[in-house]
Amino acid sequence: KEFKIAVIAGDGIGVEVMEEALHVLNVLQDYEKDLVLHMEKLPWGSDYYLENGSMMPDDGLDILKKFDAILFGAIGDARVPDDVTIWELIMPIRKQFQQYVNFRPVKSLEGIKSPLSNVDNIDFVIFRENAEGEYSNSGGRMFDSQSSELAIQNTIMTRKGIERITKAASDYAVKNGKKKVTSATKSNAVIHAMKLWDECVKQTVLIDFPELQLESVYIDALVAYLVQRPHTFEVVVASNLFGDILSDLGSAIVGGLGLSPSANINPEKKFPSMFEPVHGSAPDIAGKGIANPIAQVWSAALMLDHLGRKDLSTKIIKAIEEVLSEGKVKTADIGGNATTKQMGAVIVEKIKDQ
Ligand code: NAI
Ligand code: MG
Repeated sequence: KEFKIAVIAGDGIGVEVMEEALHVLNVLQDYEKDLVLHMEKLPWGSDYYLENGSMMPDDGLDILKKFDAILFGAIGDARVPDDVTIWELIMPIRKQFQQYVNFRPVKSLEGIKSPLSNVDNIDFVIFRENAEGEYSNSGGRMFDSQSSELAIQNTIMTRKGIERITKAASDYAVKNGKKKVTSATKSNAVIHAMKLWDECVKQTVLIDFPELQLESVYIDALVAYLVQRPHTFEVVVASNLFGDILSDLGSAIVGGLGLSPSANINPEKKFPSMFEPVHGSAPDIAGKGIANPIAQVWSAALMLDHLGRKDLSTKIIKAIEEVLSEGKVKTADIGGNATTKQMGAVIVEKIKDQ
């Protein structure tokens, strides 16, 4: 089968790491004759905004709808407010395409030292609710006088939204031989939204997945446990905000943002899904050619898995794992001095060797 892939490299290091992901995909295509990817680069992002006044064309979502998947780099630029870049590009894609599952694997890697000295067998996944919750634009600000200024930010949670993310997490657990699902909550303090969250998560697991064990943990305790005993978690299901925070923590305990991929998935496959590293455009290192491309390359692997090519996804991940465990070529974020291009090239060589 042939696939149409929209490639949005974005800003900063997004552009640099995307080059390496495309390099890997192109080499795979050369070797696997039955893999045909039609990749189209879309120049959307902050430069586009400064020229055209919007992050993507008015019919951007219609254009994207025709693709089988979206490979995304990162956006963020000092010349454009961060809420504009995020809300005009990433959020509309996630929300309109009902990419309600944000999937983020967290796994110890041989050759990468965790800042936690007590563990080396971390292996869990985060299912972050990606279409509603705390990240809503419902609310507003009021200003009569400085002393009475106030802002209201609404969280929107629906039974449907909570049930479907719980179902996706539980499905994954069952299919991958996991026994336990951990729900991140805060229903002791956030008494409307999080109580609905608790009820819906519990009912979904009890009724549809009786073979799974469910534990509900307050988010503040959960972040402490993820530092103290991260190896005891298997599948974590969380709301949009909690899942966002847990993902960066998860990334940090297995070696950092340069290694962490993510997938924004529409499980029904009614709309294209989007694959992107957890990290942003990293303005502090952008333009230097030293960003770690692994998170982006790994995101491309998640994309191939979603498109039904788990064999090729596994091939890429194996190549990354081998390169890291050999430890000869490393970018600065993981303790070496290799460039983005050198890191990409050594992964490509490993794939060719397999
Ligand atoms: P960031 O992820 O861009 O950077 C955080 C730190 O991690 C920096 O020190 C950076 O150098 C390092 N880092 C990140 N990726 C790396 C890689 N591949 N290799 C080596 N080091 C890496 O997050 P930050 O600084 O909070 O945000 C920067 C910009 O990115 C902002 O404009 C923000 O809005 C945007 N952003 C965009 C996201 C997206 O496109 N999905 C996600 C997160 C932030
Ligand atoms: Mg984040």
